[in-house]
Amino acid sequence: MGFILFIFSACFAFFTGVIISDVNDFCVTRYRLKSKKIKKRVRFVQITDLHGKEFGPDNKRLVAAVDRLKPDFVIMSGDIMSGKNLGRTSESTVDTAESLIRKLSLKYPIYFAPGNHEQRVEWLPDLFSFTYKEMMERFAKAGATVLDNDEYIRRGDGICIKGLALHKDYYLKNRKGRLRLPFAYLDSAVGELDEKYFNILIAHTPEYIRDYAGWGADLTLSGHYHGGIMKLPFIGGVISPKYRLFPEYTFGMFNECGKKQIVSCGMGTHTLPVRVFNPGELVCVDLLPDRRTK
Ligand SMILES: [Fe+2]
Repeated sequence: MGFILFIFSACFAFFTGVIISDVNDFCVTRYRLKSKKIKKRVRFVQITDLHGKEFGPDNKRLVAAVDRLKPDFVIMSGDIMSGKNLGRTSESTVDTAESLIRKLSLKYPIYFAPGNHEQRVEWLPDLFSFTYKEMMERFAKAGATVLDNDEYIRRGDGICIKGLALHKDYYLKNRKGRLRLPFAYLDSAVGELDEKYFNILIAHTPEYIRDYAGWGADLTLSGHYHGGIMKLPFIGGVISPKYRLFPEYTFGMFNECGKKQIVSCGMGTHTLPVRVFNPGELVCVDLLPDRRTK
């Protein structure tokens, strides 16, 4: 009995330590991609699913990590605030997000697309003391370029960035199986693709990766799954936000239809403050010219 209690206590202490460490720390994951559409080397970082988390006072540690990477721009791919009043109020997570944007925008262009938590403010307005429009205006005033379906950025370096605000029906928890977006949904949401550019699509949920690739995005940036909450060796992420076990696309880089998709593990938590063998992740991407002739 004593031995069983000892094993149980040791496991409890171990997992508590892992969770505390993974919730409060983050790693940097680096990717290199080559494309003929890229004229000169460009580096950007992706911050996603922060959910109002602060790494050090006023996100000092996160800002310092971004500074060390010296990116040309920063992409925020949604759920930077929390649309659920759990532990902290949603308003306070908007304050944290706004403050981070203000700090980073002093040095880098920031392109921001909403996740389902930002969109909850629009979908369920009675639950919030502020509107979606007011929140996005605050982020824009703090220095972010908000890419919310209609808006897009064509940068001088040949990169076009669009941000998808997905209709709420496509986030519903009771939808099962591999899902597809309706035909031409992306054309009507974010517009048609301009092939002359290297097209980055910020699309918060990786659920529809095949559709993003089919639309033609050279690179899609997603998050949403929080790495599957727990990462298991050889298996990957354990659970999706729709409570599906061992979903596809929980983290990493994918290659669908000859296009690339990066899914970040995100940086924060909501509802349950748990991450196991799955610290927060700051993604850093180098886009390089492909000078091969074929
Ligand atoms: Fe999300």
